Amino acid sequence: MTEYDERAEANGWNDRYVEGRTGWDLGAAPPALLREIRAAMDRHTERGGGRRLRVLVPGCGRGHDALAWARAGAEVVGMDFARLAVKEATALAERAGLPVRYVEANVLELDPAFVGAFDLVWEQTCFCAIPLEARRGYAIAMSEALDQEGALLGLFWNHGNEGGPPFDVAPDHVLEAFAGVLEERDRYAVSDSVPARTPEFVMRLGRRA
Ligand SMILES: C[S@@+](CC[C@H](N)C(=O)[O-])C[C@H]1O[C@@H](n2cnc3c(N)ncnc32)[C@H](O)[C@@H]1O
Repeated sequence: MTEYDERAEANGWNDRYVEGRTGWDLGAAPPALLREIRAAMDRHTERGGGRRLRVLVPGCGRGHDALAWARAGAEVVGMDFARLAVKEATALAERAGLPVRYVEANVLELDPAFVGAFDLVWEQTCFCAIPLEARRGYAIAMSEALDQEGALLGLFWNHGNEGGPPFDVAPDHVLEAFAGVLEERDRYAVSDSVPARTPEFVMRLGRRA
């Protein structure tokens, strides 16, 4: 099995930002996310969470999703190891006047300060960017980021093509990576994906009962 080379991966992703090869960047949060944000904020209010919902956005890129969570009132950390992505995300948040904390870090190696620190991990096009041999590490790191009642909510692109990134993500790929760590709670096919991203599904995973 190939070994994950963090520096090469981070440099490779940063180069994509430097060269403007960022075709995955939708420039805004997709409809499925906006719906999930409304539902998550309602759920959080119903449960009487006196504090703000704490959300981690791994592989946040330029931070459009992180901004959408912050706009809805969540306390957000966006994490990415591509230096330029973090810089651009920070500038976008400043321009929007929204308080997002961006961290330049490898999502596979969670800082101890983030262990158990989140109610929700929002995942879009990070899992599919992680080489197959490192996905298990991603699953473990993301579950460690969640507090006991926390959940990972992901929007996954099941394009069915060979190779990557972005790698094809079928429901079984997610379930395999998270097996024994988090388990499926809910899943649905997305009907209003942006045309370049069909088909997609949303899956919610929580701690094993
Ligand atoms: C396909 S892009 C998606 C970016 C963003 N989620 C979006 O939808 O615009 C994947 C992102 O994940 C980041 N990434 C990949 N592997 C990572 C890792 N191990 N740690 C931190 N960031 C990572 C890349 O730098 C890149 O910004």
